[in-house]
Amino acid sequence: MVFNNLFSSKNVGNITMPNRVVMAPMTRSRTLQPGDIPTDLMATYYAQRATAGFIVSEATQISPQGKGYSFTPGMYSEEQVNGWRKVTDAVHAADGRIFSQLWHVGRMSHASFHDDGKPVGPSALAPDAQVWIVGDDGVGRMIDCPVPRALSIDDIREIVQDYRVAAANAIKAGFDGIEIHAGNGYLIDQFLRRSANKRTDEYGGSVENRIRLAVEVIEAVSDEIGAERVGIRLAPFITQRGMDDSQVIDAILLAAKSFNDLGIAYIHLSEADWDDAPVVSDSFRHDLRAAFDGSIIVAGNYTAESGEKIIASGLVDFVAYGRKFLANPDLPYRFKNNLPLNEITDSSTLFGGDEVGYTDFPIYKQN
Ligand SMILES: Cc1cc2nc3c(=O)[nH]c(=O)nc-3n(C[C@H](O)[C@H](O)[C@H](O)COP(=O)(O)O)c2cc1C
Repeated sequence: MVFNNLFSSKNVGNITMPNRVVMAPMTRSRTLQPGDIPTDLMATYYAQRATAGFIVSEATQISPQGKGYSFTPGMYSEEQVNGWRKVTDAVHAADGRIFSQLWHVGRMSHASFHDDGKPVGPSALAPDAQVWIVGDDGVGRMIDCPVPRALSIDDIREIVQDYRVAAANAIKAGFDGIEIHAGNGYLIDQFLRRSANKRTDEYGGSVENRIRLAVEVIEAVSDEIGAERVGIRLAPFITQRGMDDSQVIDAILLAAKSFNDLGIAYIHLSEADWDDAPVVSDSFRHDLRAAFDGSIIVAGNYTAESGEKIIASGLVDFVAYGRKFLANPDLPYRFKNNLPLNEITDSSTLFGGDEVGYTDFPIYKQN
């Protein structure tokens, strides 16, 4: 098959992306400890994948409070910024482009990351979910998230400020832009949904109130680094992690209109990637296109063929690939030339560890 759409260039903000094959954000939990600092090995991993249209980094906490899993990187200390500088330099030296995905996990966290033993969330409701935590024995396990502490208005203001500072730090570290992680049941997503957000102040209740945090964060980071360098990731169709809310599409479409007014570069949909996931309706895609003038990126179980097809439909601009990019550093080349793909064979190497299952996936070689 010929992939004319996947292999055409397009701008995101002011940057020309040479193709539409984006590397999706993927947590790999390999930072230097203590301090959650990016390493030389991480620089190698990302540089290997620099032929992507652009890379979105693994989720990176904006503050110690925003951390939910062991060994994930941060964007708030000088050491972290210096570590990320090695990553962005390596990607740019390989002619690539990279955005930083900034997250605050909210209630998707563990007692050990918080002085008072409590993660934070919109309301004091546990998510019915687990996070990956490495114990004193050095072994990683999935552990239930505790009941969080409900954020005060002052706490929320501090979090918006933390996003602003983290965005500035990402640019200082050499990133080409940032992606705010507002999907997958993390803090901003928790505010969007009535199932997690029972607040009675201006951050809860109506759809307008529930999107307020998302809009304030996007306003703050756009003001700080320029809206043309800002994207946001949303997961309208997630129902796990206590995220089931029949009104979420209304919230997402209203938020998309606000993001459009602010002029951000893209919306990235984390579509369903589990087996019995709902099919995303064309009517939702049309509504999102109508609400938002920037680029639309989709991710979740796409192949080269389905990616090509959805871009050809005109409803989507870029397709992000997660697991395929993880196992195939030269994914665009393989797609373009209809070559076979490496598979992930050992899921124990996904989170934590060394170069095994990380930087040792081979590029394609003719026998
Ligand atoms: C190991 C792994 C880690 C992930 N970490 C993140 C993350 O940090 N941020 C995020 O938004 N999505 C994360 N995801 C979801 C991916 O970005 C992507 O949406 C998902 O893998 C579906 O795409 P795929 O079918 O092409 O793999 C992760 C997925 C995997 C497999």
